[in-house]
Amino acid sequence: MFGVLPDYVRCGLEDLIVCINKTFPVPKRFAPHLGAEIAALSRLLTSARSERDAGYLGRANFRSAYLRFFLPWNVFRLCKLFAGKDGENRVFPINPPKNGVCADLGSGTLTTPLALWICFPQLRETPLVFYCLDSCAKALEDGITLFNAFTTDKNKEKPLLWTIKPVKTNVFRFKLPQKADLITAFNLYNELFGAVKQGDLAAMELFAQKTKNQLSPALKEGGGVLIAEPGIPRSGQFLSLLRTVFINSGYSIKLPCAHDGRCPAPGGKKGAKWCHFVFPVDEAPAALQAVSREASLEKEKATVSFLYAEKNSKNKIPASRNRNLTALRVISGSIRLSGAVSGVYCCSKHGLVLALDRENARSPVSGDLIYREFPQKKDYDKKSGALIV
Ligand SMILES: C[S@@+](CC[C@H](N)C(=O)[O-])C[C@H]1O[C@@H](n2cnc3c(N)ncnc32)[C@H](O)[C@@H]1O
Repeated sequence: MFGVLPDYVRCGLEDLIVCINKTFPVPKRFAPHLGAEIAALSRLLTSARSERDAGYLGRANFRSAYLRFFLPWNVFRLCKLFAGKDGENRVFPINPPKNGVCADLGSGTLTTPLALWICFPQLRETPLVFYCLDSCAKALEDGITLFNAFTTDKNKEKPLLWTIKPVKTNVFRFKLPQKADLITAFNLYNELFGAVKQGDLAAMELFAQKTKNQLSPALKEGGGVLIAEPGIPRSGQFLSLLRTVFINSGYSIKLPCAHDGRCPAPGGKKGAKWCHFVFPVDEAPAALQAVSREASLEKEKATVSFLYAEKNSKNKIPASRNRNLTALRVISGSIRLSGAVSGVYCCSKHGLVLALDRENARSPVSGDLIYREFPQKKDYDKKSGALIV
């Protein structure tokens, strides 16, 4: 799933940072405090979520911090996801038709439209309408200013074919004037399920059902929905429950699952595996790494949990062409086991699997799709209960 970013994506990310600095120059008197503002906002978005109020992005200091740190890191995360292996072999079947309708929920500073524009050059040639929904009008305003400046800079001689329509609304009450071909939401739902009591599985199930009930009427038949979240355990749990609700409603799960059976990484309990992916960040722009150092928030890796499903789509997850092989999605980094043996945890239609590295082969990495033959004699890992292949 994650490969080396192609040059046009790397360039897009670097140009985005230049454009942010040019479009939103930090006033001289604020510049020395930027690192501290980023660190304060990071705390509110992670460990101190309960102290955050709904309008946090309305405050100028936090918006400036968001634009310089969170927005570019989030665009980077999405670019890693969208670009796929080496930018050629795209794993994301995102292909809205001409004059198609897209809706981005909790759009903030238009993170997802920016990442789509950078990663899918062919989509730039397609007239699309983008409804960008958020409860914070100021974040949307900044997003539109940035999107216009960035796409004009990058596409000098061509007119912008995307119509961006900002909608200030609470996503619990959203209604689109047209059904969408594509609905996206990135880093939104963890702000909403914060109200669900930790450990209350029934309440989280209800929240997942409510989410689907709300999204479904807004989506065309065959349309796609992408929900991506930080790779934290609760996001993994929410997405696993949402996946079940989608499957029960006739949706096809396209990614990241290798099957449409029971989810073997539903999270929700202490020590339980949850579905998330981890990738290195050494390809992120140097200027972004420098801002991160300034805020003492240097990163070595980034994480994401996500689900991409299509409504009543006929395209089911393709079975392996070789009937003896089973598809496995790698959901961990390489784990050192006894002696020189190492392996990775994977999701499969047979449940959680511990795939041991093949002799002389490169270890698979988080997000890879690999195929293995299942042993006749079943052997289970004592610690995790995973089937060993
Ligand atoms: C962490 S930001 C994510 C923004 C953007 N999607 C990104 O990934 O960079 C979460 C966004 O959700 C918005 N939001 C939170 N609760 C909302 C609600 N109930 N209705 C609409 N927007 C909401 C916030 O205003 C904020 O812009």
